Order: sequence, then structure tokens, then C-alpha cells
Amino acid sequence: MSLEALKQHYEQIKNVHMRDMFAQDHNRAAKFSVRLDSESDFMVFDYSKNRVTEETMNLLLRFAREKQLNEHIEAMFRGDAINTTEKRAVLHTALRNLTGTPVLVDGKNVMPDVMAVLAHMREFSSAVRSGRWLGYTGKPITDVVNIGIGGSDLGPVMVTEALKPYSGQIRAHFVSNVDGTHIAEVTKKLNPETCLFIISSKTFTTQETMTNAASARSWWLDHTHAPEMVKRHFVAVSTNTKAVREFGIDTANMFEFWDWVGGRYSLWSAIGLSICLSVGYEWFEELLRGAEAMDRHFRTAPLEQNIPVLMGMLGIWYNDFFHCESHAVLPYDQYLHRFAAYLQQLDMESNGKHIRLDGSPVEVPTGAVVWGEAGTNGQHAFYQLIHQGTHVIPADFVMPLETHNPVGPHHAMLMSNCIAQTEALMVGKSLETVKAELRAEGKLSASEIEVLAPHKTFDGNRPTNTIVLRKVTPRSLGMLIALYEHKVFVEGIMWGINSFDQWGVELGKVLAKAILPELTAPSFAHGHDASTNALIDLVRSKMAP
Ligand code: F6P
Repeated sequence: MSLEALKQHYEQIKNVHMRDMFAQDHNRAAKFSVRLDSESDFMVFDYSKNRVTEETMNLLLRFAREKQLNEHIEAMFRGDAINTTEKRAVLHTALRNLTGTPVLVDGKNVMPDVMAVLAHMREFSSAVRSGRWLGYTGKPITDVVNIGIGGSDLGPVMVTEALKPYSGQIRAHFVSNVDGTHIAEVTKKLNPETCLFIISSKTFTTQETMTNAASARSWWLDHTHAPEMVKRHFVAVSTNTKAVREFGIDTANMFEFWDWVGGRYSLWSAIGLSICLSVGYEWFEELLRGAEAMDRHFRTAPLEQNIPVLMGMLGIWYNDFFHCESHAVLPYDQYLHRFAAYLQQLDMESNGKHIRLDGSPVEVPTGAVVWGEAGTNGQHAFYQLIHQGTHVIPADFVMPLETHNPVGPHHAMLMSNCIAQTEALMVGKSLETVKAELRAEGKLSASEIEVLAPHKTFDGNRPTNTIVLRKVTPRSLGMLIALYEHKVFVEGIMWGINSFDQWGVELGKVLAKAILPELTAPSFAHGHDASTNALIDLVRSKMAP
């Protein structure tokens, strides 16, 4: 069994330093790198700065084969109902299947519907962007507001930020938080004559989104007094036609998607309408093409050369053998500044599970805590802990070679910082080197050097992946996002969990609904524990009539 072999192997390798691995194998960087090209874009996945040898990778991939990873990949692409707790297929890959090859769900080919919605998105975004779609006083739309939360927000926000260099005249805004400050601050920037609200909600029942949507509509009606014109300023993206109609949106302006698209996998669907309006349909399609290239790679590349598989199995290695509990994502491109926030939902809502598909508890740690920040800001905030803290934190460095803003020396500095960090994390700096440097400076006594030197020592041996892109383009971004989607899938399969449900968010929602009326109730709350009762009463003292 590979698991036993991996456990034994881990004992042998856990203290081996990557410095020595590089010294012993001059071919290591090439051996542990994979390149994927797509038109003029490419991705290089350099995983050589990981605590692995060829034997480690062989054992990890053997383990993946034992878990029938290839068969599971095929089952997802084929449209099997792999989301077993919700009895649904998982087919975000069909959304970027631009060749249109049939994909069957319950015997029905879903591709004609996918293509029809894409055509609707193309037609609508072109009408709005070209000024053919007019507001109620005959003026073109200048501002689009996506109202949604979770998967109906994070993907579109992240992508519109990442693709800002491709955006046109239309300004994109996002309202997600139920905190009234969010909608209030966004509406302050809007002109009711020239704004368009997209109500994005798979279920069209999410409390935050429906409350924000109702407030947006009230704000708009207060300014316009034109209820018959709501249809020109409000459109919807949802699977729930009935609720959309009840809200007052013309279903001709509803963009459909389907229950086989998970919320956190939905930016490729009509949930991406705000992206389309911001950058135009052609660039949106390029984003899909990038993801499609990664899908093809994931489905067909041998495991040894398969980037999402390698990345996922490294995740298993660090989670389950090294017991690393968190994973940092560090993009060296300002346009990717929301990437970590987006990945938090993708990864943690997918793999933050402790029960296996068969209902039994997992026996190993699952989904890591994902966090990060665009470089170099992170370097001056939390990298200290990655370099010298007591936790080993595997990190992904995303490194686009070209910038959209070649301003003086900035880009070279950015790149040098990115490379230097991965080098420093791997190589470290030994106690002996530090002592020798301090002695050479000649400023400190021998006893002072003894005390100071350990503080300046870096153990190194901290694992990193470097994901090199040519540039942040719609195509490379599509590849990058799909890479992480599939990495999360691989880990979920290895853990035997369902990466596609999210029951863990339900309890809080239910309790919030129960507490809401208690905040304005005439009598003190007493139905909860003492802390909860007291907190409710504190709010009640401010809110009750
Ligand atoms: O947070 C739970 C969740 O169900 C996410 O999975 C989803 O992306 C989000 O809420 C929003 O759901 P909806 O699109 O149905 O409003």
C-alpha cells in the first residue's frame, strides 16, 4: 500500500534539507517543472523547491492511482452526479467547453443551453457597452453593480480586478455584505439614470443578496419614481426563474444557469456577466479558453506531467504527512490582489470537511487554511512568520513575467523580490554563516554574537511552488483559476470527501434568522445560552422600540 510506503518515506525524508537536494541533483529544477502552453500564453509550474524527491513523487502518484484519481477526473467531466450529498453533477468544465462536444446530465446534452446563455451574454453586454441599451431617461449605462455574495461575488470581483487593463468605459461595482454600509457607499457613487444592477444569486433566496437587492431597488425607485422602468436597470442571474419574476425583473433579462454549477465554480457561467460588461464578451471568452486549456491538460496529461495533480498531491503531502495547517498564496502582480480572497472560498468551502462520502469521519487533516496577499506588501507584514515562525507554511508564488505597467525599475524589483523570497525560504542562512558575518563586522563581543546569531539564523527548507505566467491576460487567468479548481478536486478525491457541498454554512444562517426577530422583541431573550442571550439583549437595548 502506498500510504504505508509514504509514511515510511516521510520518516526518512522529513529532516532532509532542500539545500542538499539541489546540491546533489543539478537537474532538479528542470526535473520538477512542467510547462503548459496555450496560444501565446504559458504557465510554468516549478515545484522543485519542495521537500520531495523522485521517490516521493512516485509514491504520491502511486497513491493517487490507488485512489483511482483518473477515473474520478473522468467521472466529473462526464457529468456523473459526484456531488452525492446534493445528488448533482459538477460541470463547471462544461461552461468552458467551447468546442460544444456533448455533455450529458441525466441523458440530456447541456451544451445547447450553455451556448444559448453565452449568446445572450454576448448580445446583452454588447448592447450595454455600445450604448444601445439605454437607461430610463435615454442615457447609456456607465456603471454596473453586481449584487451577490460568496461564489456570486468573489469570482467576478477578483477577475474584474485582475483584468482591469482590459476594461472599457463601464465601471464595475460589487455589493456583497449585508452591512448597509456596503450598499450605501456604492450607491453614493451612482447616477440612477445610468446604472445597471445585476442581482446574482444561484438560489435567489440568499438573505444578504435579497436584502441588498431590495435596498438597491428602493434607492433607485426613490430617485426615479419609475417602477415600470425597473426592467431597464435591473437584471438577474439565477437558477430560480420564479423568484426572479417575483422580484419584478423581466425574465427576458434573466441569465440562467443550472444546479450542476457550484456557486464557487460559477464565474464561468452567467455569474460572470459583470466581467463581460467590464471587459467585453471577447475577453470573457478568452478567459473561458484559458480554463478550457487547463481542463484539457488535467483530463489528458499523464499524472507525472499534470500540474493540478502534482499541486494537489503536494497539498496532500504537506497536510497529511507534515501536518502543515495553512497554505499561503502570494501573487506578484497588483492586479491579482483579490486572488487569495477568491481562493479562500474555492478551497476552504470545498475542502473544509471532516466527513467522508460514506458518512464516516476522516482520519487525516483535510483542507488547509488558505491566506495571502499580493507581493511585496505581504513581505512587510507576515513573511517574518513564514521565514522564521514555528509553523511550516507551504506557499505558492505567482509570478507573471510581463507587466501591464512598465514603469521605470518597478517590475524588475518586483520580480527580484519574488525570486529572492523563494530562494531565501529554501536555502535559509545557517548559524555558522551568521556568526562568521558578525565576527567579520567586528562590532560585537563573542558573547554578544552567541546571543544575537540565532535570531538572525534562517532554517530554510520552507516549501514553495512558483507558478510563472507570461502575463496576467484573460487566457492565463483562466488557466490559473482552473488550475486551483482542479487542485482542490484532486485533494478532495484523495481525502474521500465531497468538495462540492457546503452544509457547514447552514447552521449559522438558520440561527441568524431565528435571532433577527429577537433583536426587536419586547422581552429579554432567554432561549439561548447565557452569552448569546446577553449579546442579543445588548443589541435589543439599542433596537427595541
Ligand atoms: O456561503 C454559502 C453559499 O451557498 C455559497 O456556496 C454561495 O456561493 C453563496 O452562498 C451564495 O449563494 P447564492 O448564489 O445562491 O446567492
